[in-house]
Amino acid sequence: MKDKFFTGKNAELTIEGKTYPLPIIEGTEGERAIDIRDLRKDTGYITLDSGYMNTGSCASGITYLEGSQGILNYRGYAIEELAENCSFVEVAYLLLHGYLPTYDELRHFSYLLGRFALIHEDMIHFFDHFPPNAAPMAILSSMVNSLSNFYPEMTENPLEDIDIIATRLISKVRTIAAFTYKKSMGWPLVYPRHDLTYCANFLNMMFDSPVKPYEINPDVVSALNKILILHADHEQNCSTSAVRLVGSARVNLYASISAGISALWGPLHGGANQAVVAMLEDIYASDGDYEKYIKKAKDPNDPFRLVGFGHRVYKSHDPRSRIIKKACDEVLVTLKVSDPLLDIAKELEEVALNDEYFLERGLYPNVDFYSGIIYRAIGIPSNMFTVMFALGRLPGWIAHWKEMWDDPNWRISRPRQVYVGPEHRPFIPMEDRVEEDHEEPDIY
Ligand code: SDX
Repeated sequence: MKDKFFTGKNAELTIEGKTYPLPIIEGTEGERAIDIRDLRKDTGYITLDSGYMNTGSCASGITYLEGSQGILNYRGYAIEELAENCSFVEVAYLLLHGYLPTYDELRHFSYLLGRFALIHEDMIHFFDHFPPNAAPMAILSSMVNSLSNFYPEMTENPLEDIDIIATRLISKVRTIAAFTYKKSMGWPLVYPRHDLTYCANFLNMMFDSPVKPYEINPDVVSALNKILILHADHEQNCSTSAVRLVGSARVNLYASISAGISALWGPLHGGANQAVVAMLEDIYASDGDYEKYIKKAKDPNDPFRLVGFGHRVYKSHDPRSRIIKKACDEVLVTLKVSDPLLDIAKELEEVALNDEYFLERGLYPNVDFYSGIIYRAIGIPSNMFTVMFALGRLPGWIAHWKEMWDDPNWRISRPRQVYVGPEHRPFIPMEDRVEEDHEEPDIY
């Protein structure tokens, strides 16, 4: 990290009477951090920060979040302007290169997406050996990991040309996602077409059929572009951190992204969009009794959390949620669909945002609260919602992986720990061991 981020000031840490200067650094948007990279070398101490609530893992120039004002910028551009004016492919280019593409740059990038849209025909046989009810995220992570067996050139010279590396993956993951859905329904695969844009191609691969051609609705294509843009990156979230951590061992892009897909699957992370719709369906089935869920969410003894609410960084509104909520209304009008779950979601938001419990904890709807309602309206089944999140997040994951690979000071990520287990004790030969109640370690 360049010295230009050093403010010229130091924090001071005094341990056992000795004072150590710790450099204070400041990012482009005024965020300040204490640089502890020499802490253990100078003091013999490490820090402890479970969940990394207070720890920056890297310096990054890709995305800026400001949690108290609900700001989200990709490479300096506000998410609201990108969602309103760009295609998903344009934003993918921005995240990867750091600037908005010219018409010719975008045309070449789009050409590459078309060129790499097919997957090796032998990979299609993999689908025949997953059980019919296989989880789409499990299929996606294993198929992406398998790609390096079919396209080894992507691992031999990983930074040969980020456009080729990125478009191959962004395009093939779209094909794998659509094929996963078709196979799960037992329907014939629909192959990508060169004459369709990225999102239109995906929708066509998902919903076209030999017996009933799919009519591509430009408003739905526009809504899907917007949703994927909103999911495209989010700085050091759990799955992006997984991509960086795995990639830091010099693992190829495929395996790194496969790790990110696995992390995103979690119900506390990208899996929340599927859980939100399940929660809304439960509320609908109980005649809209959302008070019961609000009460459960507030009960400290109940592990239930109001899914789609809360965020590690945003302690005011998640800007993405507001844009998706507006897009929900537009898509449902366009498709002439009325979804009672949208009404329940809006009522739930209204009640929660007038409740002290949520307000004092800064719990607002996040990106997952409304996204599932749009997917439902488009016809995407709930078990594919997190796959949609992965489709959107892919350019961000690739951009972070590349940013790490480009870093001349890059090291393998290897966090430390504070050991609180048993002190050293003598070995017990098998013949001397006795059955006894072993107490749970008292370390939490
Ligand atoms: C994503 O990091 C990212 O950027 C992620 C993401 C991205 O784009 O990559 O934005 C995508 O993952 C969005 C989040 C999707 N997950 C959910 O919607 C699941 C429900 N939300 C929560 O589980 C929770 O809010 C998290 C996981 C999102 C954030 O967890 P934190 O930061 O660890 O919050 P916390 O556990 O410190 O909670 C602080 C307090 C606690 O209460 P107290 O102990 O202070 O009394 O808020 C409470 C929590 O119990 N709380 C909730 C709650 N979320 C937090 N109470 C009820 N319902 C909730 N949803």
